Amino acid sequence: MRAVQVTRLDGPQALEINDVAAPQPAAHEVLIDVHRVGISFPDLLLSRGQYQLKPELPFTPGVDIAGTVAADGNGFTAGQRVAAVVPYGGGAEQVAVPAMFTFPLPDRLDYEQGAALPMNYLTAEFALAERAGLRSGETVLVHGAAGGVGTATLQVAKGLGATTIGVVSTEEKAEFARAAGADHTVLVDGFKDRVKELTGGQGVDVVLDVVGGDIFTDSLRCLGSQGRLLVVGFAAGQGIPEVKVNRLLLNNTDVRGVGWGEYAMKRPGYMQEQWQRLLPLMEDGTITPPVGKVYPLEQFGQALIDMDNRLTLGKSVIAVR
Ligand SMILES: NC(=O)c1ccc[n+]([C@@H]2O[C@H](COP(=O)([O-])OP(=O)(O)OC[C@H]3O[C@@H](n4cnc5c(N)ncnc54)[C@H](OP(=O)(O)O)[C@@H]3O)[C@@H](O)[C@H]2O)c1
Repeated sequence: MRAVQVTRLDGPQALEINDVAAPQPAAHEVLIDVHRVGISFPDLLLSRGQYQLKPELPFTPGVDIAGTVAADGNGFTAGQRVAAVVPYGGGAEQVAVPAMFTFPLPDRLDYEQGAALPMNYLTAEFALAERAGLRSGETVLVHGAAGGVGTATLQVAKGLGATTIGVVSTEEKAEFARAAGADHTVLVDGFKDRVKELTGGQGVDVVLDVVGGDIFTDSLRCLGSQGRLLVVGFAAGQGIPEVKVNRLLLNNTDVRGVGWGEYAMKRPGYMQEQWQRLLPLMEDGTITPPVGKVYPLEQFGQALIDMDNRLTLGKSVIAVR
């Protein structure tokens, strides 16, 4: 079968498409005929050897997949439409995935939307519900709001009854974030003052930060009393922000880390519980993942280069068949 491969850690331009042996599923695994693979930030970092995970070379990138089950077993039936998540290895025509990381795909969502779901939406649910303790009626400020985790967070927050403000770098991304469900959008340039205006000087209850870098201090300044800032990622790649802890004391605020993979991997069944909690939102349309661009398998590397150049809208997806 055909698979994308990282054979040397020279970044996305060095990816290869090679013929490899089809996987032989273990007893606890589901064999999936892959239709679509989602492009994820960790793929970019993995291709450069900059991710916390260091798979042996050669390896196949690809975290989120959607497709059909190849054979009955583990509670799934041949031909069933599913989405699934793996640490890497998704960019291939067939993938064997542990049943606990495989999820039935609702009829109203196509394979492209399915490949946009697992990592970003389960991360958003974990961040908002588990780490922030988000309550209905609260306001959430979402950085990178036209990106993958950003658009997922807008929709999950809406499903939990929150008002959302998306922070973006361009007017095009602002429009995309509003179409994805943001109640308000602000440009990153000067975002703190606009957020103060929009909240009548009160500030927001939760900030979800996938960007890091020099916006961090202004994000802290956007928090209202007992606000929580969620540290999710460092897409800006400018170095890790530092916190002057007197700011936390002055306004009774928290900075909370969000490591969805670390949490979910230690708790078998947790991802399935999360999927069950999100299913009603997938079925009523609150969750409708926005897919920006679909690339052929040969352009997996180009899709990562576009992500690196900040050109991605929503989730980018690779068509495998
Ligand atoms: N902690 C967890 O459990 C967890 C789970 C999943 C992902 N993540 C992390 O979350 C981060 C975002 O992932 P994603 O899939 O949402 O990525 P994405 O779709 O590329 O979105 C990231 C957003 O960050 C903004 N950005 C600002 N500076 C950037 C730069 N120099 N390069 C690229 N983007 C920049 C961009 O928005 P603007 O142009 O509008 O500023 C972009 O839309 C990554 O660091 C990823 O590793 C963490």
